[in-house]
Amino acid sequence: MKRLSNRINTISRSKTLSVTAKAAELRASGKDIVVLTVGEPDFPTPMNIKNAGKKAIDDNFTKYTAAGGIKELKEVVVRKYKEDFNVDIGIENVVACNGAKHALANIILTCCEAGDEVIIPNPAWVSYPELVRLASATPIFINTDETTNFKLTPEILNKNINSRTKMLILCSPSNPTGSIYTKEELIELAKVIKKHDIYVIYDEIYEKLIYDGNEHFSMMQIDDIRNNVISINGVSKTYAMTGWRIGYAVAEKSIISTCQKIQSHMTSNPNSIAQKAAIEALEGDQTEIEEMRKTFEMRRNVGYELIKQIPHTKCHKPEGAFYFFVDFSYYLGKKFNDKVIETNDDLCDFFISEPKVAAITGSAFGSDKHVRFSFATSKERFKEGMDRIIEGLKLLK
Ligand SMILES: Cc1ncc(COP(=O)(O)O)c(C=O)c1O
Repeated sequence: MKRLSNRINTISRSKTLSVTAKAAELRASGKDIVVLTVGEPDFPTPMNIKNAGKKAIDDNFTKYTAAGGIKELKEVVVRKYKEDFNVDIGIENVVACNGAKHALANIILTCCEAGDEVIIPNPAWVSYPELVRLASATPIFINTDETTNFKLTPEILNKNINSRTKMLILCSPSNPTGSIYTKEELIELAKVIKKHDIYVIYDEIYEKLIYDGNEHFSMMQIDDIRNNVISINGVSKTYAMTGWRIGYAVAEKSIISTCQKIQSHMTSNPNSIAQKAAIEALEGDQTEIEEMRKTFEMRRNVGYELIKQIPHTKCHKPEGAFYFFVDFSYYLGKKFNDKVIETNDDLCDFFISEPKVAAITGSAFGSDKHVRFSFATSKERFKEGMDRIIEGLKLLK
C-alpha cells in the first residue's frame, strides 16, 4: 500500500520558516510589514570570504571532495580549537557538513535510535526535537524560565536522567533566549553528565556573538567529559554566511567517522567552493567580524530599552545571539474585537495582521508565553516594530 512513513508523520513543519513565508507573501501584496523573524545577520558576507569563493571557482575547485570535508578545512578547525579553547584535537575529530543543522542531523542519527531519550531544555531551537524524532528517538523536554535565565541546573538534569537517556542538547549562547552558560555552570552540569555517562551536544554556533565582555566557554574544555561532548559550530552566524552552508562537528573519532559514512551516502560532501570560503572566514582578517558583533551589541542595547517599554511584559536581557524572548502572558485571554487571543500563536497572528509586525511565536521553541523578536535588523526598523507593537496592544481588551 502506498503511504508516507510513520517516521515522517512525527515531524512538524518549521514555524519559523512558515511565518517568514507569510510575511513575504503579505509584503509581496504591498503591505508594509516589519519583519523581526530572521535568524541570520543582515550584513553581506565579507569581501575577503567572497573572494576566496570566487577564487575556488576560478581554480576549478568544483569537484567532489572528501566526504567529511577537505583536510585543509579540518586543519583550520583543529587550530581554532587550540587557539580559542586550548583544546588539542586532530583532524580525525572533525567533520565538515552542509551547515550546522546538517552536522546536528548527522550526529543525532549517529548516536540515537528508537528507545533512546534525548533531554532538551525548553525553550529550545526548533530543529532539535524534530531531528531527534527523525532518528526515531524521543525528545524529553525540561522547562526552564526566567528564574534561572532559562538555564538547566545540575539538580534538575540529574532528576530527569534514566536508563533510556542517551543525550542532552545544550545551546550557548541560546537561540531563542540569548542566555549563556558560564564556565562554573558547565563544570557542574559536566559532573552529572559524567556520572551517567551520556552524550551532550553543545551547540556553540553563536559563540562569537556575545556581549558585555562575556567570554564564551566550550564544554570541550572540560577534560573529564571530552569524549561525551559533541561540539557543533559553523560559519553561518558569525561570518554572515547562512547561504553558503558550512557547519561542522567536533567529537570523539568513532562518532566523526560514522558521521562521514552517513554523509558519504547522503550528500557526498559539503560544497567544495563554500569549504574554501569557510577556510578564509575562520583564518582570514577578523576585523569586520568584530565590527558586526559590535553592531549587534549596540542594537541589543537600544532594542532592550524599547522592549522594556512594552507594558506588562518581561524579558531576560540577552547576553548573546540576536533575539529578544519576551513574556506576553498578560495579554493571553484578551480580546481583539470579538476574537479571543488564546495563545501566543494567536498573538503573533494578531501582530502580523494588525500592527503588521512579523515575529515568531514562542510555541515554536516550546513556550506558551513568549514571542521571539530578532534584532538582526536596523535599529530604526526595530524601533518602528516596537512602536507598532505598543500601539497594537492597546487594541486588546
Ligand atoms: C541554535 C542554532 N543551531 C544551529 C543552527 C543552524 O545553522 P546553519 O545555518 O549552520 O545550519 C541555527 C540556525 O538558525 C541555530 O539557531
